[in-house]
Amino acid sequence: MAKRSTLRRVVAGTTVLGAATLAYASLVERNLFTLRRYDVPVLASDAEPLRILHLSDLHLTPGQHRKQRWVAELAATDPDLVIVTGDNMAHVDAVPAVLAAYGPLFDRPGAFVFGSNDYRGPVFKNPFGYFRADREYTQGVALPTEELRDALTGAGWVDLNNARTTIKAGGRTVELVGVDDPHVGRDDYPAVAGPADPTADLRIALTHSPEPPVVNAMTADGFDLVLAGHTHGGQVCVPFVGALVTNCGLDRRMAKGLHRWPGSDALLHVSAGLGTHPTAPVRFACPPEASVLTLIPR
Ligand SMILES: [Fe+2]
Repeated sequence: MAKRSTLRRVVAGTTVLGAATLAYASLVERNLFTLRRYDVPVLASDAEPLRILHLSDLHLTPGQHRKQRWVAELAATDPDLVIVTGDNMAHVDAVPAVLAAYGPLFDRPGAFVFGSNDYRGPVFKNPFGYFRADREYTQGVALPTEELRDALTGAGWVDLNNARTTIKAGGRTVELVGVDDPHVGRDDYPAVAGPADPTADLRIALTHSPEPPVVNAMTADGFDLVLAGHTHGGQVCVPFVGALVTNCGLDRRMAKGLHRWPGSDALLHVSAGLGTHPTAPVRFACPPEASVLTLIPR
């Protein structure tokens, strides 16, 4: 009898703990917007610092006003360049919300690539499906991709989906290259590949999903810094262990943050992003984030 009541107490305690954890992950942590700061040593030895604001994976819906306000207030970080690595929308009517979030940043130079969630809306997925390598990609409702693209380019930001260009930012010459989302096979790096410009002050490459073959090709071309999103930092992590999955070919130890790319001098920064998949609106041990990257001499 004593054994059975102990078991009952353990089961009840575990259930309460599980419910409390789920409530925390869905109600608290997914709204704990966090600004991370990194020093990124990629500039020439005599260069002044250059500030990049890296945003990713907002997965915005029209009702997420708190997230829109938080992003809009990041203009106070005074970035020299704004980079967006995709997955902006989670709703067919999300474009005005995205523009409300980015609006105060439009007076800065900016560049973007898209993720799969700029093309198709969310569909319910078995969260454990991420652990299966043979899972199929399921498409949701069509999102207003071209409306968003036109709005961002109309505001002066550069569309880097399978594109390459050179811009001025913070008084520096910055060569930029990017691919459309390799996670859903939209990338065409060969169309824009080639040695990075050694006369530029800085060479930056963008991809939504940090698929290793794409990052390898970019760093082999001499790009100093690769910026990506997509992983959500694992989204649901284990404290002191970190991400269990990256939802792509990236090593889970690089699921977020700044890392030296293996076999190169380049750095990879993966943003854990600001959103969640709408059908799994939880984050645990991985708060939503934006990053200020202060580029400094090597
Ligand atoms: Fe995402």
